[in-house]
This record gives sequence, C-alpha cells and structure tokens, in this order.
Amino acid sequence: MRKVYLFFVLIFSIHTVSAQNRSDKESLQIANDLLSKMTLPEKVLLLHGDHIYSFPGISRLGIPPFYPSDGPCAVRPELTDAGHYIHAGDSADCTTAFPTLSALSATWNPELANQFGLAISSELRARGKDMYLGPGVNIMRTPLCGRNFEYMGEDPFLTSSVAVPLITGVQQNNVSACIKHFALNNQELDRQGVNVTVGERALHEIYFPAFEAAVKKGGTLGLMSAYNKFNGDWCSENEFLLTTTLKQNWGFKGVVISDWGAIHSMTKAVLAGCDLESNYSREYLKLEEAVTTGKLSDSLVDQKVRRLLFVYAKIKLIGPGAEQRIKGAVLTDKHKMLARTIAEESIVLLKNQGNILPLNKTKIARLVIVGKVANAKLTIDINTKGGCDLFLGGGSGEAKPLYEITPLEGLRQYLPSAQVDYIDTVNHQDAGLMKKLQSADAVLVFTGDTHVEEHEGDDRTDIRLPQGQDEMVRAILAIQPKAIVINQSGAPVAMPWVEQAKAIVQNWFNGQETGNALARVLFGEVNPSGKLNSTFPKQLSDVACHSMDAYKAKAEHYDEDIFVGYRWYDKQDIDPLFCFGHGLSYSTFKFGKIKITRSTSNDSIKVTVPVTNLSDRAGAEVVQLYISEAAPTVSRPKQELKGFQKVQLSAHETKEVVLNLTAKDFSYWSETEHGWKHNAGTYEIRVGASSRDIRENKKIVL
Ligand code: BGC
Repeated sequence: MRKVYLFFVLIFSIHTVSAQNRSDKESLQIANDLLSKMTLPEKVLLLHGDHIYSFPGISRLGIPPFYPSDGPCAVRPELTDAGHYIHAGDSADCTTAFPTLSALSATWNPELANQFGLAISSELRARGKDMYLGPGVNIMRTPLCGRNFEYMGEDPFLTSSVAVPLITGVQQNNVSACIKHFALNNQELDRQGVNVTVGERALHEIYFPAFEAAVKKGGTLGLMSAYNKFNGDWCSENEFLLTTTLKQNWGFKGVVISDWGAIHSMTKAVLAGCDLESNYSREYLKLEEAVTTGKLSDSLVDQKVRRLLFVYAKIKLIGPGAEQRIKGAVLTDKHKMLARTIAEESIVLLKNQGNILPLNKTKIARLVIVGKVANAKLTIDINTKGGCDLFLGGGSGEAKPLYEITPLEGLRQYLPSAQVDYIDTVNHQDAGLMKKLQSADAVLVFTGDTHVEEHEGDDRTDIRLPQGQDEMVRAILAIQPKAIVINQSGAPVAMPWVEQAKAIVQNWFNGQETGNALARVLFGEVNPSGKLNSTFPKQLSDVACHSMDAYKAKAEHYDEDIFVGYRWYDKQDIDPLFCFGHGLSYSTFKFGKIKITRSTSNDSIKVTVPVTNLSDRAGAEVVQLYISEAAPTVSRPKQELKGFQKVQLSAHETKEVVLNLTAKDFSYWSETEHGWKHNAGTYEIRVGASSRDIRENKKIVL
C-alpha cells in the first residue's frame, strides 16, 4: 500500500515539477549570466523580430529562436512573411479551434478559462511556440469594434476575472502569455492613426484594471503595446503607459512587445519602455548604431535584453533543464471536449416565453432550419489554397481546425432519424415555404454575423443584422410564431423583432464544436448557463460613445468617461434589449437572504447567499454581486460588478455562495488624490441573476 502511495506521490511530483516555470530568482540569474557574455550586436539582434513570427536566437550561447503565435482561440496556421499560408491545402498545422474569447467570458467561469489556458498552451508547445499573443482584454466601448469577439466584454471586473486564470493556465505550460493591446485600442476604426484621450478615472476604473490584474495577479510575462496613440504618443512609444504605469507602478517583470508594425520611432520606443520590436517595423535595426555613437546608452539595451532573457528562462527556453520543457499535444480528445464544454457554457438563453425550449428529441420528426448563418463556417477550411489571406477567419484570431461542425451539421447529427429541411435564403414567393414552416415540429431561424462583418482591421458600421436578416426573421415569425431565433455573433446585434419572437438564443463564434454544443443546449442535454458579458442595446444611439458622438477616427476623447456599458444604461435609465449579466436557464433559481461578515478593518468582507435550484433538472446560476454607493460625493455608476460565482446545483439543491470583498471594491479613482479612495458611508450590496435582476440586497456602512 505504502509503495503504491509513494509511486503516486512520485508521479505526481514529477508532473508538477515539469509543469512549473522556473523561479524569478533563478531566471534572473540565468539572464544575467548570459547577458554578461553577449556582445552589443548580439544583444540588439535579439530585440528585433527576424520573421513574421520569430525572433532570432544565438547558437554560440545556446539561445534558441523565440516563436510567438496568435491567436486568442487557436494556434494560428503557419504564415510566410508575406502572409501566405504555408500549409495551404494540408492539415500539418491544424489545431483545435476553441470558442473565441467573447464566448469564453460569457461562460462566467474562471475555472474553464484556466482549463482553456492549459489546453491552448499545450497546443502551442506542440506546434513549437513560446508565446501566446493573447488574451485580448480591451474593454468593449462600442459594440461596433471589429475585434470584440476577441475580447471579453464591457466590464473590467469580469474581464480581469477571466483573464487572470487564463494567463496562469497558459504560463503553467512553459509558454509566455502576452496580454494585449495596451492600451485604449477599443476600436478598429483608424486603429493605426487615432489619438485617444481619456479622463484619469476612466483609465483607472475601466481601461486599466484587466491589464493591471494580468500583471499583478496573473504574472503575465508578455504585454503587447497597441497601435493607436494615447495622449499624443503612439502606445509603443508612450512612457506613461510602458514605464511609469506598467513597469514602475505595477512592477511588470516581463517584456513589452510592440504590435506588428506599431513602432514609428526607434529612439522614442526604446526610451519609452518598449522592449521588443516585432518584425513588421524595422526601427530597431538602427539601435546598434545609436548606442555606438552614444545617442542611447548600452544600459538601456541591457535592461531590455535582461527582461527578454528572464522570460526565456522562466519558460525554460534557456537554462538547465530546457530539454524537459513541456512537449504539449494538439488536437487531443480532451481539447475537443473542452472546446465543446466552453461553447455549451457560453450559449446564452436570452428569451424563453412559454418554455418553448428545450426541444424534445422524441417529438421532433421534422425540423426546419432557416438562414445562411446556420451553415456558415467561421474557421479556415483545410482545403483553402494559398493567397494572401491574412483577413480570412477574422484576422490574427483565425483558426484552422481539422473540422468545424456548423449548427446545421450539429443538428442533423443530433437528430439522425428526423427530417431536417434547410432553407438558406427565404424567397417570399415560395408557396411551399409556408406549408413547410407550419407543418414542422420545430423551426429554427439563424441570424448573425460572420467574419465578413466582424474582423480585425475594421469596425462594423451598424449593429443591425446584415443582408436583410431582420426581414427574414419577421417573415418567418409571421408564418410560424413559435420559430426559435438563434443569433450567432461575437458582439451585440440589434433585434427589432424581439417582442415577436418567443425564444431567442445567443450563440457566439463558438469554434469547431459549435454545432454540437448548440444542439445539446437546444434539446436540453445541457442546461444553458451563459450570461451576457456586455449589454445588448436596442439601437446604436443607446450606446454611450455613440449617443455623445465620441466615436471617431483621427482624434477622439472618451467623453462618456467611466460610463461605459451598463454603467451608462443605468445612469441614463435606458432600457437595453438585454442587460449585462443576463442569461436564462431551463431551471429556476431562488436566492435566499444575504449574510455579511466582516473584519473590523474591512479588509475582508464576506457576503454569503444561499441559492436553490427549484427545478427538477440540474443547472447552474451565475450569482452576481453589484455594489452601489448610497450618497457618493463624486459622480459614480449606480452599481458595479464586484463579485460573481457560477454555482452548479442538482435538482432542488441549495448551496451557500460566498463572495469575498475588500475595501478596494467600494472605491473609486480619485482624480484629486490620484489614487483609489472610498468614502465612509452607506453602500448597498446587491445580489442577483443579472445587472437588472437583483434578487436580494443589504446595506453596509463603511
Ligand atoms: C494584431 C495583434 C496580433 C499581431 C500578430 C496585429 O495586427 O493587432 O493582435 O497579435 O498582429 O499577428
């Protein structure tokens, strides 16, 4: 017995040791040792990308090349420097396509984010990569931003809560994370030209927290500076961002890497704190001369190289034991199941009047599926041949899996003996259509975007659905009022037919398993538990920056200040289409009374709330905690998310959910004191199932 036990201890410890990165102290020592042996040209060489996704090594010193890779939801297919696919038409670089990050954050499940981080880094290692160019944590300021599908929504607390475990998962497998895009890259419109200015409060309360958490709590080893300007300086040349805030105030120990082509002046970037220049710009090639002619000091170069070597040592790219680095694995069954689980947990049941959903498999002999989106592939087909396809698949977030099960395919596979009719475009003249829709056991109408609308490099021009899809939904609902609408997008869309539809489901860009996940949710095999990570507005003019005409190219000031997302709808009393945090379940959950226990110094405030599943089926509720100050002395949001927990409950089960707060959660950024501050006074702790479905509240005096 004892022998068996020891065997397991041994196996377990071998696993944990190899899965761990090196300590900071040892890594710094390795970095310094190597640095002392390097010539100036060698040092400078390391700081500039030599190919689209590689940095050179130095064989004399045993430093291998360094390979960063996109992207947020899959290891990106291999590209030539000109952006052509190297494996066009073959499967050599296929990897698992997970749901995109806006889906991941709609799970409101940090543990899943951690599993995702572990899985993607395993795939990165198997593809020989060293750095994950993600996660993207830019806050959704406008639903139009073309990259919202790569980000995590409108709330800094939710974004931080998902990003941190994701990063720790990534870095546990000897891969560096690279949080991006720092900072204020909240739109794709003129992203390489716009100069953003914003108030100090908004910076600290809305746009910085996820980056700060990634550094301080996630220990991210990489950070990517954004394309845009902030306060007149390009983000890669911005001393306030890269040196004062990131390195000095937050204590960042890793490397700053410029976004691809984001450096305009070598001298400015080097002095501002940008460590690495990615391959697109060629500014750092001038660095050696600047040092030899005395324009820049060699200690500046040393600082950058030391940081880089520190990262290399942390992920065991260099140093003793480098050969034991995690090998990783791609396309495993485990990753496939994880892709499906994330997709399932992300799907949001927006509306379910009369409990139309879930559908009953045994009662569906004829299913009609309508809409092009039902069969649109969002990932790259293996058979895609070359060409400069950088924008295919949505830009750097593209994925190339072995397969992608579209919703149509998933539903067909789920109902092998049913007749599934597919109508991709509705022809109003079609006499047979009415009959088909009326006689079907269920009708599913698919709407949404594809990467044609949502992609890197551009914003959408509207939140209205493209290509006459609103008319299509209305036409179908007029014939078949029980038709279920399924929207698929990475970000909010308007739904002017919301009152007409009895059931609406929000699917995301949900990766290779999207169709299987959706079928399982629609038929009740999985009880939906996703929640919106951003407000779905009725119309674009309801969004703060659009209503204030503060969304612009060239130069824009964030006039709405801290009132982003639900903070704005609450302030202005605007009814959203669906509010932040919203998402229904097939179960009903009851919230009990809130109990608060606190330490005298308020550094630990424990909020306990019992939650009961009143239904006969197992389900999960996301218990959300919002804080509201009763009489603020400065203008503050009516409420702010400061805690949440996804709780799994069997039929009729009750669990106590515990959410921990500290005084910081009650604070705002004081522009006079340039720091966090909370007033003594009364606050309300609100607990509920969404930002507009508060079930319980309790006052607390600080
Ligand atoms: C994107 C980054 C990406 C990089 C490398 C840039 O255009 O903004 O997010 O990581 O390209 O592909």
